[in-house]
Amino acid sequence: MRKQIVAGNWKMNKTASETRALLEELQAQLPATSAGVMVAPTFVNLTGAVEQLGGSAIEVVAQNMHFADSGAYTGEISADMLADIGIQTVILGHSERRAYFGEDDALLEKKTAQAISKGMQVIFCFGEELEDRKAGKHFEVVASQLKNALFGLPDTAWGQIILAYEPVWAIGTGETASPEQAQEMHAFIRKIVADAYTPEVADAVTILYGGSVKPGNAAEIFSKPDVDGGLIGGASLNAEDFSAIVAAIG
Ligand code: PGA
Repeated sequence: MRKQIVAGNWKMNKTASETRALLEELQAQLPATSAGVMVAPTFVNLTGAVEQLGGSAIEVVAQNMHFADSGAYTGEISADMLADIGIQTVILGHSERRAYFGEDDALLEKKTAQAISKGMQVIFCFGEELEDRKAGKHFEVVASQLKNALFGLPDTAWGQIILAYEPVWAIGTGETASPEQAQEMHAFIRKIVADAYTPEVADAVTILYGGSVKPGNAAEIFSKPDVDGGLIGGASLNAEDFSAIVAAIG
């Protein structure tokens, strides 16, 4: 069985005291689940979150990371810095990083390779824009994002990869891909991973859906056979909503 995961990407939200308060609420409200539950507070709140959650089943993950070991990269954070405070998983390639901070496939290839070589797990985000979908190019765009950034990795790296398909037109817009659209794309993704590697690698990789997942639509999206959970933005900032989404995965 593939690992199911529900991850909350808090983006640039929540101060230290708000982070503490939301984590307290989550600890009190989250339902028991066999799925992995992750939260991604902002960098300055990672240490506090790890300390607060020590021993709990909620994993604290980072939203980004630099590709270099260390050095003159003002404002950046390295894999070793994250590992040293107990972070084992990093989100890379989020569409906001791509759109607002110029992250392209070549940069993401370097970041992913670095995270893998440091023994970290990567939640790798990708997805087409609205124009791509309207033009019928969504499969092509997704295939090239994966090929360019990930398909140079050895088979053995895939145990550290979690994929997160996030159609850009569905992020923060209230518009979700239909469960059928999500399933269609996830099945396609699994097929191209099988073609590039092996059916076993493809079958084992967790593929999350992200983009306006809410308590009201989560169960239907998660019920699709190739959807192994979700990467949740807005709804992860509210303990009740995030708990309901975790409950929807069972
Ligand atoms: P959203 O964000 O749930 O607010 O649409 C998803 C994401 O950006 O990961």
